[in-house]
Amino acid sequence: MTKRRILACIALTLMATGARTQEPPAPAEDTAAAQDTGTLLQRFSDDPDRFTQTDGEALYRTTCQACHMEDGRGDAGAGAHPPLADNPKVASKHFVAGVVMTGYHGMPRFGHQMSDDQVAEVTNYVRSSFGNDHSDPITPDEVADLRAPEDND
Ligand code: HEC
Repeated sequence: MTKRRILACIALTLMATGARTQEPPAPAEDTAAAQDTGTLLQRFSDDPDRFTQTDGEALYRTTCQACHMEDGRGDAGAGAHPPLADNPKVASKHFVAGVVMTGYHGMPRFGHQMSDDQVAEVTNYVRSSFGNDHSDPITPDEVADLRAPEDND
C-alpha cells in the first residue's frame, strides 16, 4: 500500500469514528469541515498548533520576520511594525521575552505555541542580531518564571 493510500485510510477511519461518536450530532456541514481541516493539518505536522523550529534564527525567520522584516528594522505600510534594531527597549531581556509570550498591543502572542527553550532562543537571537549586542542572554528557567498561567492556554 502506498503512503498516500495509508494516509487516506487513516483519514477515512478518523472521520468515520468521529462521526459515530458525535453526541449530539453537530450540523453535518460543520462537522465535516472541522474533521477535514484537523485531518489535513495533522498530515503535515504532528503538532500543527506549535512551532517546531528550535534555534533562534529559524524561529525569527518563520515567526517574526514577516512583520519585523529580515533586518529587524521594522516596517510601516499596511501596519506599523517597530524596529528591533537600534531599539533601547530590546536591552531588557524580560521585556522582549514577555512581548513574545503575551503579545503587545497589535502584536499577537506566541507563548502558547512555544516552549520555554524556544522563547529563550528567539529572544536571545533578537538581542544579539541586527547590530544588537546584549550579552545577558535569558535562560529557559527565567522564561518559565515570567510565564503567566494563561500564556500556556
Ligand atoms: C503579525 C505581526 C507581528 C509578528 C509576527 C511579530 N510582531 Fe512583534 N510587534 C508587532 C507590532 C504591531 C508591534 C507594536 C505593538 C505596539 O506597540 O503597538 C510589535 C512589537 C514588538 C516588540 C516591542 C517593540 C517596541 O519598541 O515596543 C518586540 C520586542 C517584538 N515585537 C518582538 C517580536 C518577536 C521576537 C517576534 C517573533 C517571535 C515578533 N515580534 C513577531 C507585530 C508583530
